[in-house]
Amino acid sequence: MRVLVTGGAGYIGSHTLLELMAQGHEVCVLDNYSNATPEVLNRVRSLSNGKVTDFEGDVRDSAKLDDVMQAFAPDAVIHFAGLKAVGESAQKPLYYYDVNITGTLTLLKAMERANCRRLIFSSSATVYGEPQYLPCDEAHPTNPVSVYGRTKLMAEQILTDWTAANPDCAAVLLRYFNPVGAHPSADLGEDPRDIPNNLMPFIAQVAVGKRDQLEVFGDDYDTPDGTGLRDYIHVVDLARAHVAALDYAAQNSGARPFNIGTGQNYSVREMVASFEAASAKPIPTKQSTRLEGDFAAMQADARRANAELGWHATHNLSDMAASTWAWQSKNPDGYRSDD
Ligand code: WQD
Repeated sequence: MRVLVTGGAGYIGSHTLLELMAQGHEVCVLDNYSNATPEVLNRVRSLSNGKVTDFEGDVRDSAKLDDVMQAFAPDAVIHFAGLKAVGESAQKPLYYYDVNITGTLTLLKAMERANCRRLIFSSSATVYGEPQYLPCDEAHPTNPVSVYGRTKLMAEQILTDWTAANPDCAAVLLRYFNPVGAHPSADLGEDPRDIPNNLMPFIAQVAVGKRDQLEVFGDDYDTPDGTGLRDYIHVVDLARAHVAALDYAAQNSGARPFNIGTGQNYSVREMVASFEAASAKPIPTKQSTRLEGDFAAMQADARRANAELGWHATHNLSDMAASTWAWQSKNPDGYRSDD
């Protein structure tokens, strides 16, 4: 299929491009490079020997979207373009609603004009909020506690209404748990612009000496070692879930959420230990109090994706730590190393 990938120069988008091309799909990227760099696409091209058409632009730019649709005529869209920092979303709610909601609406209207009827949406387990039971399945109540999480849930609701009104359309809502890891080439990986918001990139930056120590947020949770448990999913497994979702969207209509996680969770201390083993570098830590809004544990029930998408996670914790270390040690300043 011809697949338009919005935000395709991003962390998950770039890994998804490689998996799409490996399955013979033609890809086109629309990215405004607000949280990415064109260097990423150069690396994707080098790693795939494939053709990656790309347009620089914002998903809220209706005219630009029409140009892209006319030039590339996609059969489907994978929509990554969006803002994703939980903390920042509380400080800039209107910015987050504009990019994540107006962007999705603008994209859908452009798809309608171009008669493109399949969309894979980058959603998030943050739509669940603090879990009421574990493992968390798709029937779990949705109660996002952040602006970011609310933008993801609202976009899911928009997509659900869109497919209800257009029975020949399909929207696959992929609820990511905690994406981590990097491409086995070590040429693609997570490259946060500023101070990393998430655990694994922060640990990686400590390992390469960019950060002095890791603050451990809370050690008094009701978990085996008192630190937070999360369901980490390797970015290559996550990318492959998008390819499986594309195949599903080609044969189904309507909107349907899928949890994309492993069903196994690990604590902060386990993540630190796995990284120390992978890197042979000590990760100094400082114990701090819990983060506001944080919670003890999250764990995916991914049986629906296993059964209906035919998708299974195959990478383990060691793969996640080793690939992250390989990427970070080869690219200590991320993509800016090529500046
Ligand atoms: C994991 C664990 C922290 C940093 C994110 C967001 C969002 C989502 C992925 C897309 C927690 C602890 C973290 C640090 C720490 N992405 N931690 N020190 O909290 O599940 O939230 O999930 O939707 O980005 O919802 O992931 O990586 O921020 O934290 O102790 O410096 O590590 O308390 O227990 P989280 P995380």
